[in-house]
Amino acid sequence: MKIAIAHGDGIGPEIMKAVLSLFDAAGVPLEYVPVDMGKWVFDKGYNNGMTPEAQQTIESLGILFKGPMETPKGKGVKSVNVTARKTWNTYANKRVFQTLHGVDTVFSKAGIPIDLTIVRENIEDTYGGIEHMLTHDVALSRRFITRPGSEQVIRYAFEMARKKGARRITCGHKANIMKITDGLFLEVFYEVAKEYPELKSDDVIVDDLCMKMVTRPDLFDVVVLTNLQGDIVSDLCAGLVGGLGFAPSANIGDHICIFEAVHGTAPDIMGKNIANPTALLLSGLAMLRHLGFMGHAARIENALLYTLESGARTGDFGDKSKPALNTTEFIQTIINNLGKTPAHGARPILEDKPITPTQYKLEKNPLIMSKETMDEKIVGADFFVESEEQPTPVAEKILAGLNPKFELVTISNRGTQVWPKGSVFTNLVNQYRCRIESKDAAACTQEEILELYQHFMKEFKVCSIEILNMWGEKKGYSLAQGQ
Ligand code: NAI
Repeated sequence: MKIAIAHGDGIGPEIMKAVLSLFDAAGVPLEYVPVDMGKWVFDKGYNNGMTPEAQQTIESLGILFKGPMETPKGKGVKSVNVTARKTWNTYANKRVFQTLHGVDTVFSKAGIPIDLTIVRENIEDTYGGIEHMLTHDVALSRRFITRPGSEQVIRYAFEMARKKGARRITCGHKANIMKITDGLFLEVFYEVAKEYPELKSDDVIVDDLCMKMVTRPDLFDVVVLTNLQGDIVSDLCAGLVGGLGFAPSANIGDHICIFEAVHGTAPDIMGKNIANPTALLLSGLAMLRHLGFMGHAARIENALLYTLESGARTGDFGDKSKPALNTTEFIQTIINNLGKTPAHGARPILEDKPITPTQYKLEKNPLIMSKETMDEKIVGADFFVESEEQPTPVAEKILAGLNPKFELVTISNRGTQVWPKGSVFTNLVNQYRCRIESKDAAACTQEEILELYQHFMKEFKVCSIEILNMWGEKKGYSLAQGQ
């Protein structure tokens, strides 16, 4: 079986070489096809950080094992890591965090075992990077949460939890504040949960989740979150089990999967042969299991666990009174321990059952077909306008000559209502959101919205506009704070 390998930047080549030498010593039957990705590819003028040949190879092989890659600063280019995840729709980012004997943490010392799997949505959310300056003083980021995108990652999390024999699956969210976006994610979570009655499914607000994770991490099993919250929570979990050196990651899509460590290129220690290769190794083991090489993965993992139990360490962890090994020595110790069984958490040596790689041709995109059946109508629009005036004169200008089919419902500033009612204590910036709704929620046309735009244009610079939709009796927009 062939897989694509990108060595990466910084410590990437050092730790990748070490991990592959261990795979070779263990007789892993994989052939590695190197691909050109990373900083040096940006420097050659490829704006997405990979050559067309690299893209073609990865798309034909379906598996990429990659080292960390640097995003050049200040060149206006996007991270190749994020581009790869998004281009190939690796919608689920799975990160497993487990207590490792020999890696001391406050929890291991307190005898509290950790076995947490975080599934982070990998495509949507603020990671779309759709950002604009609306006025000189006001920046806006658009946060997309979609029903089919949420369903893909949540279904993956439930399937994985079922296979793992998990006792609990939890949705982390902030739906109390982001009622529409996180509300949608949570709604989809409970819809999918109905198909998995054997799993205890529940939800926790993300701030409470963080507090509970640092006090009782053993209460959680599988946790699924949106992209940004998942990013933050999974780094928190890395801290619980000993740091970035032990945090693996699998980016799972239906056709292409990417396996990489959570950490970056560690420029401060690059070229010194002292980096900890464990996170990349654990990512590689997840890849072997994904490909069906259960036996090889278990044998290598047992050697790793045995090595850690014996006190062998790289400089970033372990008993500082013992000398640290360099990357090459650490991997060689694991190689020497192949065939040994650790005292704690030994993995059973199952039979290898390699999967058959599928050649896939995308003919149509199934997510684009909505299952919505309720009537949809436009009932108004939010106009974001630039102004340094107070709310009342802004309202008076809008109301003068407004089409009588519509009414000005509210004006808010930074999401807080300032008209018709507000507080003198609300601080204002030079941008208002003015909500125009049709009377009695009558359906209106896009032409009428355009006429409203022209009405606003006479008095204001319109910075942005957002259509107000309804599905049946359900409003597709949030209320302003205080409305
Ligand atoms: P980083 O993860 O590279 O380093 C943070 C700290 O952890 C440093 O002190 C580093 O020495 C240490 N560290 C990281 N991995 C280690 C290892 N395996 N062994 C021992 N110590 C280790 O994060 P930073 O400095 O924020 O980012 C550096 C570069 O990496 C940036 O260009 C960033 O864009 C890129 N990056 C790439 C990622 C990827 O390829 N998936 C992920 C995160 C960052």
